[in-house]
Formats: sequence, structure tokens, C-alpha cells
Amino acid sequence: MKYPGQPQEIPVFQNSTFTIPVNDPHQVWNSDEHEDLQVIVVISRPPIKVRKEMETRTGPTAAVAAGGGGHGAHLVCAGRGALLLALVVVSAAAFLPVAESSCPRDNSLVKDVSKMYQSNYGREGFSHITIAGALAHGMKEVEVWLQTFGPGQRTPIHRHSCEEVFVVLKGKGTLLLGSSSMKYPGQPQEIPVFQNSTFSVPVNDPHQVWNSDEHEDLQVLVIISRPPVKIFTYDDWSVPHTAAKLKFPYFWDEDCLPAPKDEL
Ligand SMILES: *[C@@H]1O[C@H](CO)[C@@H](O)[C@H](O)[C@H]1NC(C)=O
Repeated sequence: MKYPGQPQEIPVFQNSTFTIPVNDPHQVWNSDEHEDLQVIVVISRPPIKVRKEMETRTGPTAAVAAGGGGHGAHLVCAGRGALLLALVVVSAAAFLPVAESSCPRDNSLVKDVSKMYQSNYGREGFSHITIAGALAHGMKEVEVWLQTFGPGQRTPIHRHSCEEVFVVLKGKGTLLLGSSSMKYPGQPQEIPVFQNSTFSVPVNDPHQVWNSDEHEDLQVLVIISRPPVKIFTYDDWSVPHTAAKLKFPYFWDEDCLPAPKDEL
């Protein structure tokens, strides 16, 4: 239409997630009278170009273009152990029809994270939920994952050329970080991570996330750019970068959804 029109009013709640279709005018409102609303917002292609619609519905031509903040992905960490994920994603393909799935799928705009498909993808003591993904949700520029590692569990040692941001929602652990400037990763730095901490992995640096705690789960929200991920894995820290094994495309949900092989 020429103007946003009467908006849909869609309730959002604790531990829910939603994606805003590209270019759709929207407003997030804490419509509760008592409690704060806290969200983690992920946007692609910063800095964002915002048009503020005027109250008088004269249409987008009267919109004010405000300069962007110049920041990377905005991460507003969730509070009180509560997590409401708002994915405000500037991505061309959100809401394109997605392929038929053998996994349970919820096509509602606001999804309850606790009811989303999760799997251990063949790894003991691990759980992965694709909050917003290339295959499952047609994301083009970012993917968002929720991963839980049982005590002692680790990711493979790996590297990739995309940006990756972690927010630790629960537990504590260790980030093992090798070097990309030598022929092989070398002895990794061991960097403690803890609840409500955030870190980003430098592009192409070999790394491993390890739940080094003996008792508690480690739960992280992971945001990566440019899906699908092109991943190189290492058997150990002394394997030369050139001998790391390539897996591409890396789709978490390829068991659920057929990957668009011909486009790659
Ligand atoms: C993380 O820190 C933010 C900012 O102080 C706070 O609002 C939030 O409640 C904290 N979250 C957790 C899970 O501790």
C-alpha cells in the first residue's frame, strides 16, 4: 500500500523469536504495564538506514531518514534468565515460502523458542536450535542459533571466513583460540567465558568453544554472517591450515529441508 495502514498487533512473549520482513514498517512496544521488555536484536548490513513514519499517515514519502548508528549487530542481552529474541533482520528472503520439511515446523511469525525443532546432530551432550536459518527461514545474510553444550562438550576445532558473535546465556566455559598467521593454529589461547558475556571470533581464526565446567550446561546464542557457513575443521591444533577439512555448505537443517544444491 501507499502507507503502512492499520498494523497487525502481534503479541510477543518471553523466550519467543520473530523476524521482521525486509522493508515492512513496524514498531516494538512494551505493552505491559508492569514489567520491562528486554530483547536481543540482530540486524544485518549495519549501519541500518531507518525511516521513521510520521504520525499523519501521509506515506513513506514523508518519512524521515535517520542516520544509522554505525554499529555492528545490535545485541541487547536478555535479562533475568529470560530471553526474548527479536530478530529484526534486513534480509531479502525472509518469509519466502520454504521447502517441505520432515521436521516439525511452525510458520507463525512469533515462535516459541522452547517449541522449535532441536537436535543433537549426532553429537553427544549437545543441542542445536536454528532460531533463524538459511534453509529453515530463508535467511540470506545472518543466521542465529541457540546451542547448549553439556559439561565437558566442545565444538570441533574449526575456522570460517564469516563473522561470528556469541552471547553466553547460561553457564561458563572456555574459548580456545588459535592463530591464522602461522602455518597451523598452534597452542591456543584459553579464554574464560561466563554468563552474560559476549565475544566475537576473529574471521578465519581457528577456534573451539568448550564447556569446561564439570556440572552445568553452557548455553550460547550464536550469530553468524553470510550463511551457509563454509567451515574448515582440524583434528588437532598442529594440523596445517591447508590440511583442514572443508565442509561446504554447512547447513544445520539439511536433514529437515533439501538444500538448494544447484544454486551453489
Ligand atoms: C546481562 O546484562 C544486562 C545489562 O546489565 C542485564 O540487563 C541482563 O539482565 C543480564 N542478563 C543476565 C542473564 O544476567
